Amino acid sequence: MKHIILSLIVVTITLMSCAPSTPQENTENAVVEAIMARRSIRQYHAVPVGRDTLMQIMTCGINAANGQNKQSWEVRVVDNPTTLTQIQDLMAAGNTALNPDIVKGCMRGAPVMVFIARDINYDFSAYDCGLLAGNMMLAAQSMGVGSICLGSPVRFINDATNSAEIADILGYSENYELCLCVGLGYAAESPDAKPRDINKVKFLD
Ligand SMILES: Cc1cc2nc3c(=O)[nH]c(=O)nc-3n(C[C@H](O)[C@H](O)[C@H](O)COP(=O)(O)O)c2cc1C
Repeated sequence: MKHIILSLIVVTITLMSCAPSTPQENTENAVVEAIMARRSIRQYHAVPVGRDTLMQIMTCGINAANGQNKQSWEVRVVDNPTTLTQIQDLMAAGNTALNPDIVKGCMRGAPVMVFIARDINYDFSAYDCGLLAGNMMLAAQSMGVGSICLGSPVRFINDATNSAEIADILGYSENYELCLCVGLGYAAESPDAKPRDINKVKFLD
């Protein structure tokens, strides 16, 4: 009798593990929840994000899919307010034709700024950097950290007359250039989702 019960348990477990997995309801899926809840945050509490939390977010970032696993990015995490202010001041000084408040404000007050550079010799490196940034923002969301993807600091830094001075601070390797920024911090706002156009997606029969 014992054998029969044991065999039944083994068969049941085996069948369960072979059964096709049924899709989870969106509401029960942590990844879907994080994707749907993430919004760009432009107001942050003046509270630092711990280095352990940041390291987990970065680890999720570098585990993104990337072309040929070349990892064609270099990432600089700036959580020191003095360094951040120094970079903002240099950006304003290097873009004299622009309003300095707008230039300095492009980081949206995020207490942590992640500068992501791409390998200019790899044609897919911008995609790699985008996927890295996406992973980081979703990981941050799942950990209660707000985020924003930022393109304007890239323009303000790469086009600045003193861009070499800023590059010195960021310290990328030769053949790398700034591609994307991600701001991180604890959200002081909870914006609604902006509308998305599902008609841009077509199924082909
Ligand atoms: C490549 C890229 C560049 C962006 N640059 C900026 C930026 O410079 N400033 C800004 O406030 N938001 C920036 N955003 C955020 C977008 O405005 C935002 O993702 C979009 O409006 C959708 O809103 P959501 O992120 O809340 O869903 C950028 C987003 C991406 C993906």
